[in-house]
Amino acid sequence: MIDYLAEAKALFTYTQSMRRDFHIHPELGFHEVRTGGIVAKELESLGLEVTKGIGKTGVVGLLEGTKPGPTLLIRFDMDALPISEDTGAEYTSQNQGVMHACGHDGHTAIGLTVAKILQKHRNELAGTVKFCFQPSEEGYNGEEMGGAQMMIRDGVLDGPKVDNTLSLHLWNEKPLGWIGVAKGPVMAGAEQFTIKLTGKGGHGAAPHLTIDPIAAAAQVINALQTVTSRNVAPLQAAVVSVTTVHSGTAFNVIPQEAELTGTIRTFDPAVRQKVLERFDQIARGVAETMGCKAEVNVQRVTPAVINDDAVAARVQQTARTLLPEAALDTAPYMTMGAEDMAFMQEKVPGCYFFIGSNNKEKHLDYGHHHPKFDFDEEALMRGAALMASAAADILK
Ligand code: NI
Repeated sequence: MIDYLAEAKALFTYTQSMRRDFHIHPELGFHEVRTGGIVAKELESLGLEVTKGIGKTGVVGLLEGTKPGPTLLIRFDMDALPISEDTGAEYTSQNQGVMHACGHDGHTAIGLTVAKILQKHRNELAGTVKFCFQPSEEGYNGEEMGGAQMMIRDGVLDGPKVDNTLSLHLWNEKPLGWIGVAKGPVMAGAEQFTIKLTGKGGHGAAPHLTIDPIAAAAQVINALQTVTSRNVAPLQAAVVSVTTVHSGTAFNVIPQEAELTGTIRTFDPAVRQKVLERFDQIARGVAETMGCKAEVNVQRVTPAVINDDAVAARVQQTARTLLPEAALDTAPYMTMGAEDMAFMQEKVPGCYFFIGSNNKEKHLDYGHHHPKFDFDEEALMRGAALMASAAADILK
């Protein structure tokens, strides 16, 4: 029996130094040149077959076991966010305005650690592990699609054909020690929308001669609140958030146009369908009632991340054996955040799990995407141990 936790512990200094190096030098989506370069070099030094440039800055490494078997893709995202770091940590970002505020520096370090562990036990591996270091999870960043989609376009799921996927996220919503491995939906599907309202501009003192798009926008925003409160069943999950409102140039001018943008989140395809329908009807209908024309544009960002029951059950079993003292949580766990791993799990059965990483005593409990976000690095060890042992188990 391989003691994966002990192996991850023995490699902790390596994992931590990698994580801190990535943290000091964060790179935005599709610009992970330095990060990807280090990843490729590390994987090559282990003797893996490495391909660069899959999804622009993505890196893929193949580790073949000595026995034949299926192919498992394990994915780690590498990108940082356009945030100015305010943690005061000794490893603070040296790239002004860019910060690893979601923990992807930790994911990349975990991936390299898993590669070391599995390479050492290659003789016991049945099948192939495809290490997938993905760029731009956080968005398109000026490209026509995000990192996961671009890697799929470039063939990451073929040659060899991927049978299952595993991926993880360090999770500051939960304390160090908590491990969340759930069946079914875990991350919401996301859409982004724009509503452009066109009225008729004029003098602020003569509203009766205008069609005021600001008054119409206010009604539309209010009415949209009823999509989730009146059209979605109380035990179902959905979010409709208007997040930007833009209109007007002067205090005495009624403008011609108003523009709203925002996001819609859902899990269930039927709920999504209903929400999109009502969203469109309300935006157009209310705008029309107010005399305005509405252009409504809704674009899908990602589908929901749905874990495969059988793959999730295997990971739960692994976690129970590996970390008997850990607070393994197998209850349904759904967050309204989005994650582009959904595109891979839409094509291949997989499991996306969470590693609790906050530590209130050490003040490491700010939320993801906060300028003070940081996590307890001990979570890296648990993440690496669970990913390595779950990978080996699934290939068994
Ligand atoms: Ni993230």
